[in-house]
Amino acid sequence: MTTTTAAPAARSVGTAHVRVEGRDKVTGAARYAGEVPFAELAHGWLVLSTVARGRVRSVEAGPVRDMPGVLDVLHHGHALPVDADWVLPVLGTKPDPIVALFQTDQVPYAGWPVALVVAETSEQARKAAEALVVHYDTEPFDIAFSAERPDAYPAAGSGGPGVTEKGDLEAELAASAVVLDAEYTTPQEHHHPMEPHAATARWDGDRLEVFDSTQGSSWIADHLAKLFRLDPAAVQVRAEHVGGAFGSKGEVRVQQVAAVMAATLLRRPVRVVLTRRQMFSLVGYRSATAQRVRLGADRDGRLRALEHRSLNMTSTVRVFVGPATSVSRVMYDAPAHHTANEVVRLDVPTPSYVRAPGEAPGSFALESAIDELAVRCGTDPIELRVRNEPERGPVSGNPFSSRNVIACFRYGARRFGWAERDPRPGVRRDGRWLLGTGTAAATYHVGAAPSTASVTAEADGTFSVRIAAADIGTGARTALTLIAADALAVAPDRVRVHVGDSGFGPAVPAGGSMGTRSWAWAIRMAADELRERLVPGVPVPPQGVTARADTTAAVVGLAQQAPRERHTFGAQFAEVAVDPASGEVRVRRMLGVFAAGRIVNPLTARSQFVGGMIWGISMALHEEATLDRATGGLVGADLAGYHIAAHADVPHIEAYWVDDPDPDDPVGVKGIGEVGNVGAAAAVANAVWHATGVRHRDLPIRPDRILTGGAPDA
Ligand code: MOS
Repeated sequence: MTTTTAAPAARSVGTAHVRVEGRDKVTGAARYAGEVPFAELAHGWLVLSTVARGRVRSVEAGPVRDMPGVLDVLHHGHALPVDADWVLPVLGTKPDPIVALFQTDQVPYAGWPVALVVAETSEQARKAAEALVVHYDTEPFDIAFSAERPDAYPAAGSGGPGVTEKGDLEAELAASAVVLDAEYTTPQEHHHPMEPHAATARWDGDRLEVFDSTQGSSWIADHLAKLFRLDPAAVQVRAEHVGGAFGSKGEVRVQQVAAVMAATLLRRPVRVVLTRRQMFSLVGYRSATAQRVRLGADRDGRLRALEHRSLNMTSTVRVFVGPATSVSRVMYDAPAHHTANEVVRLDVPTPSYVRAPGEAPGSFALESAIDELAVRCGTDPIELRVRNEPERGPVSGNPFSSRNVIACFRYGARRFGWAERDPRPGVRRDGRWLLGTGTAAATYHVGAAPSTASVTAEADGTFSVRIAAADIGTGARTALTLIAADALAVAPDRVRVHVGDSGFGPAVPAGGSMGTRSWAWAIRMAADELRERLVPGVPVPPQGVTARADTTAAVVGLAQQAPRERHTFGAQFAEVAVDPASGEVRVRRMLGVFAAGRIVNPLTARSQFVGGMIWGISMALHEEATLDRATGGLVGADLAGYHIAAHADVPHIEAYWVDDPDPDDPVGVKGIGEVGNVGAAAAVANAVWHATGVRHRDLPIRPDRILTGGAPDA
């Protein structure tokens, strides 16, 4: 038995630390949701609609029930009731109607779940699911997304109101010496993590236990309780290790609902794992966007008018707004400032939160447009941004809590060698390659949401932290270990952080770049309370001493203070080589500098930033899902046809940060999950212009687009 004394703070925050669960992961000791062993485990296999619109006339379950190992076939004629008519906390919307599993015969899009075959083995379930005959009454469908849709309309969402308007846009445009009016498009993109979505549900008496792959175990427990009208205290969801998510595992989804429904009907554990192909219609995606940016400026590049409109598609069953104009609402001000997020409802799956939802596609349009304006004004693109730094939030009028974007550009310019850049396009050659460099700004909003945590002083001198956080591969568990160590004034090796269990109490999911900030707050609060309760020199009893904290009041209190524009910022730089004969574009190097609050663990933070930047390369050059007008589904719903940046596509990438502690956060954390992805595609596209003299306003910049010449640079 040891005693606890308040040793001098070890200052672990800010020092590089390898992942505390790294050994478990590389040795295979870490178990993922689809791997946890159970006695009597049955396997469910989903059957998805092959038609894009209509209704299920009948499901020929009989013959399939006679197949080897088959235990049951669930569908709209044989299902448990599911109540999806309630509002999700934080998001403020009802759950995706797709989780009202088998509650209707209506089919609103291709890939909608119509049945679940449950069998003794996964192979038997799959075989039977593939043999299941479903008859449909089909209806004509409409999946034609385009900028010209007459049925598009502005819609509010997570990025704020549908429309913001300040000043007389046409008058300021007419009075501008330099005007840009350009349309940009981004394609449909999919956020598939390495680990597919998987859930195992089992009943233990009247307790429901779910092993899941999710960004938020306490959310999923709460949502499953509401969906099945269960006592929330009787539902436990665990997600100890998660192999990536990117927003696709934020909300409750089909695999959890299917597993719980089948486990309830069969009274034995049931596992449902999505296939890669199924994920394309079941876990959300980033809608294609059609964006228009109009900029008016004085000769020196000072903006007089800024208009940014973005259209995304959504399903007929749920409105999801990809708030692409969020970037314009933060980055640049003008006497006339208009933004609009619009949607059109089509017979397609519902898009969803995808890392930097809104900001990623929106920054491609805005930051390309700013680059185009700089060219027209004959001004360096960094200098143009310096001239347009706003004093206050362009839409809100609120002051910024901190805004260090220019510091990022200055530091990045120095490290990247921007000063030596010849602004003329299309004049540098390296053999067959044309060379160019480009830059773009990044921003993402900062937030915190209520969470609970407990910290226990153990009798052996260690400390156990319990919080329903999720480590989705980002290193959150390690970051929280460092934060707890500092809060307890001990070395990190005396702290064990346990995450991914709804039994630890409510906590915000790993989403919206809010996880670390929100969870750290709760851990610090509990640790402070614990330190007050521990008396120096008095031994800790065998059962330990536990303190709990709930940040609800603190988070509400911060929200009630004078409102602030709270964001992270960044500056992205890219150098590309373009072969005008083959159309090949190679990114030769990338460099990003971020102002993203106090960096807790430089090792994993760097990976977060670099990962986001790699996704930017992928977005700029490779990623594109294509809807098939014949079937209403995707052409090639697989990772063979859907190209993502692979090792050979990724050059040397550097990520740095400037000092930028959040003034109102006890640790100074802002959140780094998404900002690395923002602006990265624009930096690459701007570099392609610099290399070739040709502006590409449609992503991805495929070889055929290089060969056919992009957009006129008028
Ligand atoms: Mo992330 S797209 O906020 O889960």
